[in-house]
Amino acid sequence: MDSIYVSFEKCLKKHYAMGAFNFFNLESLQAILQAGEECKMPVICSISESAIQYIGLNTAVMMFETLSQNKKYPAYLHLDHGRSYEICKKAIDAGFDSVMIDGSSLSFDENVKLTKKVVNYANKQGVFVEGEIGVLAGNEDNVNNLESRYSNPEEVKKFVELTKVDSVAVAIGTSHGAYKFKYDQKLRIDILSEIEKLLPKFPIVLHGASTVDKKTIKQINIRGGKLKNAKGVDKNELMIICKDHNVCKVNVDTDIRLVFIASLRQTLRSSPKEINPRYFLSEAKESMKTIIAEKIFLFKGLKN
Ligand code: G3H
Ligand code: 13P
Ligand code: ZN
Repeated sequence: MDSIYVSFEKCLKKHYAMGAFNFFNLESLQAILQAGEECKMPVICSISESAIQYIGLNTAVMMFETLSQNKKYPAYLHLDHGRSYEICKKAIDAGFDSVMIDGSSLSFDENVKLTKKVVNYANKQGVFVEGEIGVLAGNEDNVNNLESRYSNPEEVKKFVELTKVDSVAVAIGTSHGAYKFKYDQKLRIDILSEIEKLLPKFPIVLHGASTVDKKTIKQINIRGGKLKNAKGVDKNELMIICKDHNVCKVNVDTDIRLVFIASLRQTLRSSPKEINPRYFLSEAKESMKTIIAEKIFLFKGLKN
């Protein structure tokens, strides 16, 4: 089975990105792992600090290890938006393949210092480290930034050289959640190209990459949801970013949440006599699996 390092190298060489999908319970993790197997592609199973608080760190690791046994294609367990050295260390010690240290809300120097500390510890254990420079607009776990601050290419280069991270998340206009581009920020592919000129063949990570499908929003809203003016990243732009750039990892959380909620709203309404929770959760799992498989193909440069 390829190590996570080899999988990133393959992305750079073959011009595609791996999907990094956030899980929050058993069904969402099953959906990610099953979609990876069905698409015959590696997947990254991401868990945020708040999802760790919800599931429990050791439970999440055990779930991942049990479910990913006997898989034919690689699956990696990744800490999403670790905000401190301590949480990254806990994840590394618990057996994660990869951690993200998110010092993006700190000053440049503080971010470098914190990231370097995590890299030093992780490298000894062979754990992959993602850093972040530049701030994404919107809700970012504990980070809530009102303005989008695009990454500065020179700063990204300096950050990577000083910290020796294995990959870097950059801000090019995307944001977390279901209301993207609300501050009129644009997707700045020119910034991405500039970064790639300064850091050739270096793995880049794109956060906030959900496409927030209008049909799913409508399905939620006609069944009592109240998601007004939701907006996501354009699918075609996303495909180009994966094919023509060095983006090797694309993060998706919101789209999985949306199909989960849409499915629950629909099945709860359509099966009023059903009281077996497994029925509703199985349907929701299938919806999550379908959207994850679509993303895997999209990030591979294939439209369905
Ligand atoms: O990038 C942020 C993720 O969407 C995590 O969100 O902290 O609610 O799990 P969460
Ligand atoms: P979305 O909110 O666009 O799904 O982004 C998720 C993400 O970046 C997780 O780190
Ligand atoms: Zn993110």
